[in-house]
Amino acid sequence: MRRARRGTEEHTKMRIHVLGAAAGGGFPQWNCNCPNCDGLRKGTLRAQARTQSSIAVSGNGIDWVLFNASPDILAQIRSFPALQPARGIRDTGIRSVVLMDGQIDHTTGLLMLREGKPLELYCTDMVREDMTTGNPLFNILGHYCGVNWHRIPTDGREAFGVAGGEGLEFTAVALKSKAPPYSPHRDNPHDGDNIGMRIRDTRSGTNVFYAPGLGEIEPHLVPFLNDADCVMVDGTFWTDDEMVRLGISRKRARDIGHLPQSGTGGMIEVLTPLKARRKILIHINNTNPILNEDSPERAELAKAGIEVSFDGMDIEV
Ligand code: MLT
Ligand code: MN
Ligand code: ZN
Repeated sequence: MRRARRGTEEHTKMRIHVLGAAAGGGFPQWNCNCPNCDGLRKGTLRAQARTQSSIAVSGNGIDWVLFNASPDILAQIRSFPALQPARGIRDTGIRSVVLMDGQIDHTTGLLMLREGKPLELYCTDMVREDMTTGNPLFNILGHYCGVNWHRIPTDGREAFGVAGGEGLEFTAVALKSKAPPYSPHRDNPHDGDNIGMRIRDTRSGTNVFYAPGLGEIEPHLVPFLNDADCVMVDGTFWTDDEMVRLGISRKRARDIGHLPQSGTGGMIEVLTPLKARRKILIHINNTNPILNEDSPERAELAKAGIEVSFDGMDIEV
């Protein structure tokens, strides 16, 4: 057995560490003066800054599987010592990387890992296509550390293991969200453009369902949501027209593959009947009023037993 870094203990429970809880752009976003970003900068808003979307998952507290590689990855690694063991002159606790889609906020951090060993990289055929064409990070990394690609099946049935995922079993399911703007099939959706993942602890039998980009609750998803002990799902927008009303964009939440929280058929309605012990929103856009801890929207979530994730949040499943 490999030795733990001094001060870390070996765990036998699944641990999830939120490295970044924000959607693309982070919070505050560099060029944004929406009430949230402006209020956070001025100190007039009770809210926490957040980096871009990524989590780390471990079955033993030593080896970690990184879900998505955010542009903020270097700061995220600095903020989480478990990812920095000192067993050799060059070392990392990140044993593998899983990509949920090929979007900028979930992939560009891969370039920052170029000094290491070949990356054990898990993604779908569709994301691999994007990462070798429209967003050719795998090709670029071929000139540095290299990528050992492992294909993620999206049939929602086949469970697979991941390097460093000791005691954990993974099942991916195709989701309706959206391929990135630079994808050769942006307007021609395919299974595997975006996925959700059940991560199951084979020792306790408990599982988390993780889906940071989720545009529509299709029937095949319902069992994944119903069976989960913990859900971590798309928290991007409160309303469908949030960015339109702020004059930021002409795009609606659903146009870019995100189910809003409020309203009929929204995420609150989806989460309310679930038996999951923890219901957590992640990938939160900087315009979302739930980031304001004093907002009525945040109070509404609390009443529904729904948590808003934050950078540094630790979850045991
Ligand atoms: C999205 O998921 O829609 C993204 O956050 C967009 C982006 O990264 O620009
Ligand atoms: Mn995103
Ligand atoms: Zn903003």
